[in-house]
This record gives sequence, C-alpha cells and structure tokens, in this order.
Amino acid sequence: MIDKIQKIKDEIEHKIINNNEELENFRLNYLSKRGIISQLFDEFRKLDPEYKKNLGKPLNDLKNLAEQIFKEKQEKLSERNKNERFEIDFTLPSYNEIIGNRHPISIIRKEICDIFEHLGFTIEQGPEIEDDWHVFSALNFPPEHPARDMQDTFFIEKMPDILLRTHTSSVQIRAMEKTPPPLKIIMPGRVFRNEAISARAHCIFHQIEGLYIDTDVSFADLKQVLLYFAREFFGKNSDIRLRPSFFPFTEPSAEMDVSCSICNGKGCNVCKYTGWLEILGCGMVHPNVLKNTNINPEQYSGYAFGMGIERITMLRYAIRDLRLFFENDIRFLEQF
Ligand code: DAH
Repeated sequence: MIDKIQKIKDEIEHKIINNNEELENFRLNYLSKRGIISQLFDEFRKLDPEYKKNLGKPLNDLKNLAEQIFKEKQEKLSERNKNERFEIDFTLPSYNEIIGNRHPISIIRKEICDIFEHLGFTIEQGPEIEDDWHVFSALNFPPEHPARDMQDTFFIEKMPDILLRTHTSSVQIRAMEKTPPPLKIIMPGRVFRNEAISARAHCIFHQIEGLYIDTDVSFADLKQVLLYFAREFFGKNSDIRLRPSFFPFTEPSAEMDVSCSICNGKGCNVCKYTGWLEILGCGMVHPNVLKNTNINPEQYSGYAFGMGIERITMLRYAIRDLRLFFENDIRFLEQF
C-alpha cells in the first residue's frame, strides 16, 4: 500500500490543471467520495492494526496534499479569469466610431423655429393623416379645386374624406378650433403630395407654417416679422420683396422673395440672374377661414405664412438635388 500511496503522490504533484474542467476531473478522481484516496482509506480500515501503524500518516499526508493542490489550482484559475477580463492592449489602434449628427432638415427646422420663438411664437403640431375639412374646406378651397384631385393628393382609398395633408396649413385650422385668439404659433411638419420624384420635387417634404391672430393685426405686422426673419436667417444685409399672389385661405395674398445671399443680389445661376429667391407664401387670413373656426372677423384679424424647409435648406447649403435629403447616404449626412 505504501507503494500505491507514493505513486498517487507523484501523480498528483505533476498533474496539469489549466482550466475548470481539468480541476473538476482532479476533484472527482482524487477527492470525491468515490475517488482514489477515499478508496485507499476504505482499504486502510480493513487492515490489521500492525500495518495500520505505518500507513496512517502517509495516507493522511496524501489526502492533505491533494486538498492543498486542489485549493491552490482553484485560486490560480479564478485569479486568471479575473485578469483576463482586464487584459486590454492599449497599443491597438482605435475603432473608427461614427458619431451621429442632426439631419440638415432638422438643423434648419430648428433654426427657423428658434427665430420665431424669439418673437413670441410657440410651436404647434397636428396630424399627418387628415380630413378634407382641415386640409381644404375650412381653408376656403372651392369644391372643384385641383388640389382635391387624386392627381395631386394621396387619399385613403376606402375613406374618400381621409387624406395625407398636402400642407401644414391644416394645423392652423386645428389650432383656431382649439384655442380662442390671440394665437401666435409656428407649425413645422411633414407633408405629402402625389408628385413624381425629381431633383426639385418629392412626394414627402417639410413645411413651416406661421399664424398670428389678434385684434388689429395688419399687413405691416406681417411684413415686419418676415423682414426680421429674413435678416436673422439669411444675414443682416438681406432684403425682401412681396409679390401679389393667390391662396384661397388668405386675402390679400403674397409671395415673398429674399435677396439672393449667394450673389448679393447681383444675379447668379441660383437666383436665375434675377437677384431674388422665392421662399414663402403669405397673406392676411381670409374672413371665411376665421368664420369656419368660429372666430369673429369683425373683431379679429390675422396673418399667415408658409415655407418649404427643403427649399430653404438647399439655399443655405447650396444643395442641388432634393433627393439627397431622403436617401440617408452617410457620405452626405456627415457633412452637416
Ligand atoms: N399652404 C401653402 C402651400 O403649401 C403655403 C402657404 C401660403 C401657407 C400662404 C400660408 C400662406 O399660411 O398664408 O403652398
């Protein structure tokens, strides 16, 4: 038996334990209830007392040694696992993290909203899926107006009264229905038109609408606010001009041009050598629109304006193709 003990001692002293599985095998082989050492103890118990005398100590030593080796290897392994988690090679080159940024449309929308918020306007929003009343009827569109045609507007097939709003002017109606005057709001949002997609048109785009309703609001107030906006947005030396126009929901109506900030009004290919860029539609809110939202036109008056965010963003950044805004090509987006 003493030879057996010696052999096992050699064995366990030279055992290679490099992972948890090998450690567990060691425990099962040598230290468990059915393990080799326990079997040796069983044999030992059956021996005559005279043999037992010289074997007790070596056998106990073997058991202690096996336990000690197990403990040491266990500690080493858990230490190594811990260190592995912190093994970072600081000399490795870093990954190229792509940092996200705002979309150019969002940048310009915020810039425009900020300018009007400065003047006391607050932001209002409305639904993109609308009904005929809010997009057309309440805005004084006659029943046979071409905008109501399927050619121009996306309707919901099974509900002819429901459509995707073609302009943010619908939010004017919702706001006037909800809140009695005075009202001083700007309404940014996404709009939809049944247009062929090209460098200058898309079926989805963005507008910002403005509305001011109070007693004694005049066209001069409108002009002053728009001049302030133009100078804040396009630069201190910008000028504006208003040309008579027509919208069913305003009377009188106008289109506003701003002096071309690229050539300073001298004439270039962006302004088509006119020195002016058309940027928005505006006018005094039509009395019918006020009546449609239960506001007394004898008591209140107001102005409204609306502009396309894509167009203004294209002017700001000299972008020539509107489709770029919707393609989400990172090479384009990361430039802003
Ligand atoms: N809704 C018009 C459009 O989509 C833009 C517009 C023109 C809005 C005049 C207005 C306005 O509020 O007064 O073309």
